[in-house]
Amino acid sequence: MSKSQQAFLDYYKAHNISPVAQDVSDLNKHFQRRNALYRQCGLPSALIKGKDILEVGPGTGHNALFTNSFAPKNYVLLDGNPKSCEETERNLQEHFDDCSNINVIQSNFWDFETESKFDLVCCEGTIPWQNDPEAFLLKLSSFVKPGGLLLITSSDATSYLSEVLRRLIARIILSDSLGSENNAHISLLNTTDVLDTLRPFFTEQLSHLKGMSRNVDDWVHDNILQPLFGKPLSISQAINTLSENFDIYGSSPQTITDWRWYKDIHGDNRNYNERAVELFSCQIHNMLDYRMVYPEQAAEFGDEIAKVANEIMNNIFLLDKVAVDDYPSALKTVVHSVSGSLSILEKLTEKYSNETSLSIQELKQQLSCWSQGDKFNTHLLKFSPWFGRGQQYLSFTKKSWFEVTE
Ligand SMILES: C[S@@+](CC[C@H](N)C(=O)[O-])C[C@H]1O[C@@H](n2cnc3c(N)ncnc32)[C@H](O)[C@@H]1O
Repeated sequence: MSKSQQAFLDYYKAHNISPVAQDVSDLNKHFQRRNALYRQCGLPSALIKGKDILEVGPGTGHNALFTNSFAPKNYVLLDGNPKSCEETERNLQEHFDDCSNINVIQSNFWDFETESKFDLVCCEGTIPWQNDPEAFLLKLSSFVKPGGLLLITSSDATSYLSEVLRRLIARIILSDSLGSENNAHISLLNTTDVLDTLRPFFTEQLSHLKGMSRNVDDWVHDNILQPLFGKPLSISQAINTLSENFDIYGSSPQTITDWRWYKDIHGDNRNYNERAVELFSCQIHNMLDYRMVYPEQAAEFGDEIAKVANEIMNNIFLLDKVAVDDYPSALKTVVHSVSGSLSILEKLTEKYSNETSLSIQELKQQLSCWSQGDKFNTHLLKFSPWFGRGQQYLSFTKKSWFEVTE
């Protein structure tokens, strides 16, 4: 892997940022939210107290404040971005008098080696969009003790589609602000000017996102400007990657149900992972829009949605890969292709969600006007409130000897 293709690290280091700060001005609220996540993933505080924990990619360490409040015995936090390590150390030292249980390590995860194993290994917001997310996940999982827990996030083209479409809108807004005769490729622009241009639009967009706890510039850096060269990691990919040594345990959103009598669960009937993959494959449409929860659909229907979402994502990500000189024409071509895909998605979503379908329709219409030479109309009544379920949290238990041998 060439150094210029390191997911997250290149962009964060180049801008000297760790753009994932959480608003912790109301620490109770922050802790209640983190507790809600840990509850949904089946992680009560007793599973943290006195335990050995590894967190990869802590970002600013705001999430670590909650984890460390339960006094783990050893808490290793590893991040490859100097700014993230600095922020993590600063935040932990500010909130805890005794940090002797904490070890912040600055290292690229791929270079990290240790003989130690951990009761809990967590890695949020870091695996999807790595160049090889499955290899990253397998390496991460090797640090979990038998019977221990792994907490990760997944994200795919469907759950992340609304953000991916906003990447395209941002590039159109930048192009409009410079005039179509100028090349608006992000690498040619000054970052401060880019943020100033985009901030009003995204401030309005994010005002619709209930529970938003990050600042707008951070969000724009992380979701809109940072080039994404790597690959997503869907729920089923994550489960399948780990299934030899791990069983799915919990998730947020919490959708795993199991009505079986526990005495029937042994031998070939254990199949926790296969059942979870089946459950999630009927919920793909519910990943597209966080505003509602619809009854499950046939897996084939979810596959159709995922196929279109992937086409859109691949097209939009192309914009970060084209040569600078080709960018203006590539932008037009991508808008044209995405409009076609949105027509298909509009029809698919119409079958179960009027609200999602109208959001898509409005964007499609605005893209069409822009293609015909109008300035992009940023007043989007139906599109603005549409966000997907971005990333999902999945917890896994590492199989014990009696589970592996069956
Ligand atoms: C998007 S941030 C997520 C931060 C935090 N976990 C959260 O969910 O808010 C990803 C973090 O992982 C770190 N990271 C990404 N790839 C890494 C790698 N290969 N080695 C070490 N750290 C990495 C980044 O520096 C960053 O701090």
